[in-house]
Amino acid sequence: MLRANNDDSDASSWTCCHHNFNCFWTYGNLDQDGLLKRFDGVVYLTSRDDGRGKAAVAKLNELGLKPEYHQLDVTDKESIVRFRDHIKEKYGGIDILVNNAAVANTSELYSYSYEEAKNTIDINYYSILTIEELLFPLVRDNGRILNISSNCGHLSNIRNENWIKRLSNKNLTENDINEFVNWYLEGIKNGTFDLNELADAGSIAPYRIAKVALSAKTILQQKELESRNISVNSMHPGLVRTDMTLGIGFYNTDQAAETPIYLLLDAPQSLKGAYVWYDRKVLDWYDYKADYYFKSVNLITEK
Ligand SMILES: NC(=O)c1ccc[n+]([C@@H]2O[C@H](COP(=O)([O-])OP(=O)(O)OC[C@H]3O[C@@H](n4cnc5c(N)ncnc54)[C@H](OP(=O)(O)O)[C@@H]3O)[C@@H](O)[C@H]2O)c1
Repeated sequence: MLRANNDDSDASSWTCCHHNFNCFWTYGNLDQDGLLKRFDGVVYLTSRDDGRGKAAVAKLNELGLKPEYHQLDVTDKESIVRFRDHIKEKYGGIDILVNNAAVANTSELYSYSYEEAKNTIDINYYSILTIEELLFPLVRDNGRILNISSNCGHLSNIRNENWIKRLSNKNLTENDINEFVNWYLEGIKNGTFDLNELADAGSIAPYRIAKVALSAKTILQQKELESRNISVNSMHPGLVRTDMTLGIGFYNTDQAAETPIYLLLDAPQSLKGAYVWYDRKVLDWYDYKADYYFKSVNLITEK
């Protein structure tokens, strides 16, 4: 999270935070023209594990970079409340917010329990609803929100015609999205979910469902925040060599940080409610026949 209030020169009113420390956001901007160097305000780095977060901050300090730190578990409402209260008291608001926390089991593409699926959906999708409730009110007018989605979040990942239709509806509601997620979870619980309802024979299905829900929710969030000229976008960062991909990918973390930083600091404020590809291209999220869906073969061929 960070600020983007270009006409505000009061640094104390700028708040910038990352959800996670060992992700491309942080390491992707340790050097060169990264966020921590370019952003003229307070940058918060957060992590669910206090010890690891503080260790990451110490590493950044060695490089002369000075983010603030706060613990944040996006699935723990009390943790978000503590963070919210801290930011409110210290800085009054947030100018830019990056929702980046996620989990994916990329070593088991098809085999997982209901509990694992539920955990993935909770972290990757349901947490955004709590963040929206508690942190969005702190985002200042003309601010920016970036939801880190995935190619798994494009509508072309869905093969079920009913859900393609419902998620494409211009009058989509949060209830529709929650029903979509719960349809999947119920199917897993009952053993009735057909993997062919998704692209790529349903690989990493819980992650795919959660990211589609996140990108759909982004469109709704934009509508809700339009009157305050806040931009809300979701993006696919590319296949990046991180823990999540077991080190597989065509991008390193520095390269992967370029488009997010562009969206946070350089893109026109008029870029709103978009689904953005790792090369800055704005894609048609509704194009369900497109070839943008995640293909698990890439995890093997990029090795
Ligand atoms: N890498 C890729 O190729 C790729 C492709 C498409 C999209 N993405 C997206 O890019 C973002 C960053 O992914 P990454 O590749 O950097 O993955 P990563 O290395 O696994 O990092 C994910 C981060 O999320 C944190 N996290 C998990 N649960 C959390 C929770 N409950 N509260 C707070 N933080 C939590 C993890 O913290 P811990 O260290 O405590 O586990 C970890 O730092 C994710 O949204 C991911 O879905 C990545």
